[in-house]
Amino acid sequence: MHKVVRTFLLAGVLLVPGALLAAPGETKVHWYGHASFRIETPSGGVILIDPWLGAPTNPDKSSLANLGKVDYILLTHGHEDHVGNTVEIGKKTGAVLVAPYGLLFNMKSVLGYPEAQATLATGGNIGGTIDLPKVKAKVTVVHAVHGSELTTPTIGKTAPGQPSTIPGGNPVGYVLQIEGGPTIYHTGDTEVYEDMKLIAEFFKVDVMLACIGGHFTMDAARAALAVQKVKPKQVVPMHYGTFGLLKGTPDQLRDELAKRKVDAEVVVIKPGESRGF
Ligand code: NI
Ligand code: MN
Repeated sequence: MHKVVRTFLLAGVLLVPGALLAAPGETKVHWYGHASFRIETPSGGVILIDPWLGAPTNPDKSSLANLGKVDYILLTHGHEDHVGNTVEIGKKTGAVLVAPYGLLFNMKSVLGYPEAQATLATGGNIGGTIDLPKVKAKVTVVHAVHGSELTTPTIGKTAPGQPSTIPGGNPVGYVLQIEGGPTIYHTGDTEVYEDMKLIAEFFKVDVMLACIGGHFTMDAARAALAVQKVKPKQVVPMHYGTFGLLKGTPDQLRDELAKRKVDAEVVVIKPGESRGF
């Protein structure tokens, strides 16, 4: 092995414990656990999706402290296991917020997300495509069949008689097209729905980040049907195992895909680990 390459690999291993290396030019996907991902694009951009860095399965308790630069945060809906640390990260890093219209506004007016980092340039809605110039990517907002009440724990707790949730726009998923990299579909929290086949109509999805836990979202059997409709090359299971209610497993997903004769590869990333695509 060339000496420079070997030094680079060693440095990578030493600096990023628990991480599988992404080669130069690859897109690195890091899973914090639950629905929370960091995506590093080939151009050096950093995108967080549903950044709940305190997810109980995230082994790295210093994820938030050691976050480094973040260009964009994409939120799929208002539930607290997805909004997570968004406001704190926005204030700390200057990250621009990408969210459905109604959620974008309440993130600012209720939760205090910095105004200048959450404008209509990145507040979209289902069917629209939003440019993300800082990371050389664009993202299309797609349906998710779920709720999107803003339920961050502070809401309602201090005001007896007031509602404990407020509107958070539509729940969504995101199809992220990265220049020189993969097309990644994050389903958000959703049930499988027939119109997922429209995603395959418009995009060649390389990697589908699919919820499989059940109870609040589709389980492994229903996720297999979703994969059949979307036709990704690879599927990374998420939103399972975080706590006892989310019982779906990657093995169940593999079995259900086999039953349907769907040949998408199930790629398991462990919480706290990364993988190149
Ligand atoms: Ni949810
Ligand atoms: Mn959820």
